[in-house]
This record gives sequence, C-alpha cells and structure tokens, in this order.
Amino acid sequence: MTKLVMATNNANKLREAREILSPLGIEVLSLADIDIDCDPDENGATFEENAEIKAEAVYNAIADKYGENMAVFADDSGLCVDALGGGPGVYSARYAPKGQECAKLLDELAGVPDEKRTARFVCSIVFLDKTGKSDEVHGTCEGMIGHEERGINGFGYDPVFVVGNKTMAEMTSEEKNAVSHRGAAMNALYKLLEGKVNE
Ligand code: IMP
Repeated sequence: MTKLVMATNNANKLREAREILSPLGIEVLSLADIDIDCDPDENGATFEENAEIKAEAVYNAIADKYGENMAVFADDSGLCVDALGGGPGVYSARYAPKGQECAKLLDELAGVPDEKRTARFVCSIVFLDKTGKSDEVHGTCEGMIGHEERGINGFGYDPVFVVGNKTMAEMTSEEKNAVSHRGAAMNALYKLLEGKVNE
C-alpha cells in the first residue's frame, strides 16, 4: 500500500496526516485529490461509528466511481465533559453555532468547581484496507474546562480546554499535536500501518 485516502478535505488534518505518515512512504490523498464528493450523515452514537460511516461511504464512492478499491481512513472527534455526563460528545460540532461553543460551555459550567471540570478530547480513526477489512485506533487527551477563554490559536473548544497550565489555544500547533487526541490517534495509525506498508 502506497496510496491512502483520508476521508476529508480539511487542510489541517491533511497536513498533520501527511507529516506523520510520510516516513512510511505513504502518499495521503484528500477527497478533492481523487475528485470524490462524499458527506454522509454522521448519525452514529459513538465516535467510532461516525468514523466507520465516513470511511465506508468513501470506500464505496471510490469503488462506484473508479471500479476499483483503495485503502481509506476517516476520523471523528469531539469533547467529553464529565459534568455534562460525557457531552457534548458526538454532538460537539452541533452543540452551538460556530464560534459560540466555548461561551455556551462556560455558561453551562458556571458554578461548577475545578475538581468537577474534568474533560477529555477523544479521536477515533477507522482504517479500511483495499479489501475492506477494517481496523480502529483511538487517542484521548485529558484536561479540564477553564473559567474563561484564553489564547487565539486552534479552533472549536481549544480556548477553554486546559492541559497543564495552558489552554490548547495558547499552544503552538507543534505543542498541541504532541498532546492532542488527534496526534495520539494518528500515531496509533502510524504503528498500525507500519506493519502493513509492504502488503
Ligand atoms: P470533527 O471530528 O473534525 O468533525 O470534529 C468535531 C467537533 O469536535 C469539532 O467541530 C470541534 O467542535 C470539536 N473538536 C474536535 N477536535 C478538536 C480540537 O482539537 N480542538 C477543539 N475542538 C475540537
């Protein structure tokens, strides 16, 4: 396997995947690279289910369009806050209008003491090899929800998600990748693919 399709057109995710997987000699292709337009309903109950929905939809779209199969992978991620019973979880992207998710979360956690503000980012990746056989890897990043927004980097919940003494929005992208759920899941994918590159 030398070519691998990532079920996304997100430039940041692609750059990170290419950086991590390039030592294996794998060329990571985006959906745009292979001219596939595929945006299935992510209506799974878990991150794994949503990643599986995306990976299978892209695998099938490639087979339909080109009459052959390619190895693909898809990721799904979100924030799980203990004081919200694990929410917003798979609803992270739909929790509030873009740009207002941090304010809403801070509002919901008003009055919640530090020891109950624990949270984690979770990322699941589903990989389908050329024959459609699937493997899953995961990454998590433990942290807590701060009391105000800090930092201007990153996206989504980064300004309120604190790891050590910095929010993720106060980290450089290198610092974030070293601790993030997606970085951990991508490294687990690297290990999984290490054993498959010569297949
Ligand atoms: P997706 O997996 O890219 O669809 O991400 C789902 C949602 O989870 C995003 O829209 C963000 O709200 C949130 N999220 C996932 N990863 C991160 C992160 O690294 N920082 C901040 N928010 C994130």
